[in-house]
Amino acid sequence: MNDRKGFGSNFGFLMAAVGSAVGLGNIWGFPNKMGANGGFPFLILYLALALCCGVIIMLGELALGRKTGHGAVGAYQSISKRFKWLGWLGIAAAALIFSFYSALGGYCLRYVVVNFGNLIGAEFGTNGVGGADVFQGLLSQPDVSIAFALAFMLITMLVVMSGVGGGIERVCSVGMPALFFILIICIIRSCTLPGAADGLKYMFVPGWAVANGIIDEAPGFWRVLTAAGGQMFFSLSLGAGVMITYGSYVKKDVNLSRSLSQIELFDTGVAFLAGLMIIPAVFVFSGMDGMSSGPSLMFVSLPKVFASMGVAGPVIGLVFFVMVAFAALTSCISIMETLVANCMEIFHQSRKAMSLTVGVLATAAAVVVCLGYNVFYFELTLPSGATAQILDLMDYISNSFLMPFISFLTCIFVGWVIKPQWIIEEMEASGHTFGRKKLYAFMIRYVTPVIMAVLFLQSAGVFNLVQELF
Ligand code: PHE
Repeated sequence: MNDRKGFGSNFGFLMAAVGSAVGLGNIWGFPNKMGANGGFPFLILYLALALCCGVIIMLGELALGRKTGHGAVGAYQSISKRFKWLGWLGIAAAALIFSFYSALGGYCLRYVVVNFGNLIGAEFGTNGVGGADVFQGLLSQPDVSIAFALAFMLITMLVVMSGVGGGIERVCSVGMPALFFILIICIIRSCTLPGAADGLKYMFVPGWAVANGIIDEAPGFWRVLTAAGGQMFFSLSLGAGVMITYGSYVKKDVNLSRSLSQIELFDTGVAFLAGLMIIPAVFVFSGMDGMSSGPSLMFVSLPKVFASMGVAGPVIGLVFFVMVAFAALTSCISIMETLVANCMEIFHQSRKAMSLTVGVLATAAAVVVCLGYNVFYFELTLPSGATAQILDLMDYISNSFLMPFISFLTCIFVGWVIKPQWIIEEMEASGHTFGRKKLYAFMIRYVTPVIMAVLFLQSAGVFNLVQELF
């Protein structure tokens, strides 16, 4: 029973939930997608979606977890046996994300080591070789990427094995405030670079990018909406059973409504700050070309930025990648905890046994992902038109397909099956009044599910298919 002990303090819960939400999605995904989708329009749509949908879905997930006291599968099952599969679907999304997230976490660790080498002038630094070559090396040499993914997985597993209060809460309570501090230092450096103002205008001035010829035309509404939607699910860790699991560890006297606002604010704030750090700097050193280039934004363009910073470069580079690796770690911990907690409940096994089992299986999946760029290389065209390898495929299935689908069904389940009052009662169980309950009930029934359905149909390519047919 001890294995299922919850968070010791409200602050610990908050930092763990923020740790889950803040990850590669914020520090890399947000600036990257914002850069590739016209800057300002993306920012506005993202904020609107986070407010109209993100808050509503996260609230449902946290309350489902706390009221039932179970992980995703158990939570749905304890309310209605007919909906148990919805919990399983969330677990499937978490498992898919886990496989590629730990591979990416390994990449971050590699860059921590390389930057440390640069700093002390050691042989394991880049020795004048640019970030592009390090990245190419990771893709083409599976032994290096697998070794780092293994190391990352091992750290994640050790924390999860130490339990919720002992491991997860402790790591996140120290790490998240530190991450915030490091981010501020990086922003000051980035925004004071000569020429940084253009990047800021790209982010904040509507129409500036087109008027100044930075991009030929504003990106289409649907393209920006799908990018912002996918980003929202991923960034807020929605539709993957994580917030249900973390909710189940929260004490009954915690004011969930306040915690929710804090998590959302922190997550959006960090994404925004990461944009403030990365977009001006990349604008200065690589212009628009550096901005829209997927993974190479972080692993190629940014190292270029650090290399051009003179003596401060290696220090900022190291500090930045330590921060990214840490953010990735706390997110990965939440995904592994979701899988482990559910397995513990389903198979009635100890935390240690389940952590080991999940760790071994996830390592095997991460190895396949690392081999996807070399031994198992293939090219697949996604409904969005992008070319995908294994990592992109897993990202697509989880992020563009499963997460909006599960979130849509969660809205239907909460809004129409158990009814909003069920959630409202849980929000008020701590003795605090839930001020926006009428608005919440309206949104979860009529607004959020419609937006979810549109996002799902659009990102799964159904709209495009229909357009082609007629
Ligand atoms: N929210 C994390 C990020 O932004 C990723 C994540 C997705 C974590 C789903 C848990 C579940 O990087």
